[in-house]
Amino acid sequence: MTEEPAKKILLGVTGSIAAYKACELVRLFVKDGHEVTPLLTHDAERFVTAHTFEALARREAARELFPHLMEADLLVLAPLSANTLAKLAQGLADNVLTQTMLAYRGPVVAAPAMNARMWDHPATKENTARLRERGVELVGPETGELAEGELGPGRMSEPNEIYARCLAALARGSELREKRVLVTAGGTREPLDSVRFIGNRSSGKMGVALAEEAARRGAEVTLLYANGSVPPPAGIEVVATPTAADLARETLARADADVVLMAAAVADYRPSEPISGKRPKEREPWTVTLDPTDDILAELGRRRTDGQILVGFAADEGERGLERAREKLAAKRGTLFVFNDVSQDDIGFDANQNEVVLVSSTGERKIAKRDKREVAVAILDEVATLLRGD
Ligand code: CTP
Repeated sequence: MTEEPAKKILLGVTGSIAAYKACELVRLFVKDGHEVTPLLTHDAERFVTAHTFEALARREAARELFPHLMEADLLVLAPLSANTLAKLAQGLADNVLTQTMLAYRGPVVAAPAMNARMWDHPATKENTARLRERGVELVGPETGELAEGELGPGRMSEPNEIYARCLAALARGSELREKRVLVTAGGTREPLDSVRFIGNRSSGKMGVALAEEAARRGAEVTLLYANGSVPPPAGIEVVATPTAADLARETLARADADVVLMAAAVADYRPSEPISGKRPKEREPWTVTLDPTDDILAELGRRRTDGQILVGFAADEGERGLERAREKLAAKRGTLFVFNDVSQDDIGFDANQNEVVLVSSTGERKIAKRDKREVAVAILDEVATLLRGD
């Protein structure tokens, strides 16, 4: 038995010759005291019967989507066939496994298994990328001899390897349990008149990815969302904060959160006297006076309590920008600053990818270019380390 309390595992098995290896996975979970509920597709049963899994799991396979399935700590898909992978990417719900995937909000680990050419097909690549974007953690496939005697990528990872990744995902899944995490995302818009505003290019992608990842780790998340272009995550409290003043008010009302991630691009200035109606066009130049806004992060820094984690984001250029991020960390009394270099077009503002340097008082860590979702994983790994005080 492990020292950790028993976890509830949903094991999805699809039609692949590797299905027999999933039996070993059940054995590993059960040996460590975890509860496994098998979810087999019709095709999976052509390879191994549900009875085998039921005997190993000492529990009936789920044949319907029961509400209690949603309370599981982890959903493991092993082996994940090309067919089910495509269904999951599309959001189909034609059997208990695909239905569960749509309804379940916890962490998902998937171990694909298929023919090498199927794995290499652009359709599979697109489907895999979609699942990854939605936070599914993929294990393998490995390169090796496949069922058809061919050599290539497509072989399901070994049960030991999948099991280790599941344990890591489970540990991460409860890392922020009972922690209140406040995330700000998007870019504020400061009205000039009733239709025009001064805004910025922030899409909200980075903040939304952070909110999702924090929720996946068990946190109680509130997202303060300023005009982002991506949909906010499901199942998370979202408060719309269109202007810097809205964002300041809502953030400071929650200043006692355990972790605050200030990913929003907050306007530094707002028009001093926004016009109440729509300003008609004139031939004269329009001169607007801008007043500085309050610095929310600096105010949080002043109020910061022991053990609270304050994360700031700095969009700046080059080595000098990094130096300024270090200065901001000290000036705003942040715990961590995420510096991203906006001199490059393919990362940062509005892009899907990001490359950042994590700057804290304990050191600096560069996160090489990757999807914003994976950058969110790295940022929250760092936050978890700081929370533990390692
Ligand atoms: N921030 C804030 N309140 C503001 C402005 C910014 O809380 N009024 C936060 C942002 O959410 C971000 C960090 O402070 O986490 C960015 O710091 P800032 O000094 O504003 O940096 P930039 O605007 O990127 O840089 P510059 O100093 O060049 O304006």
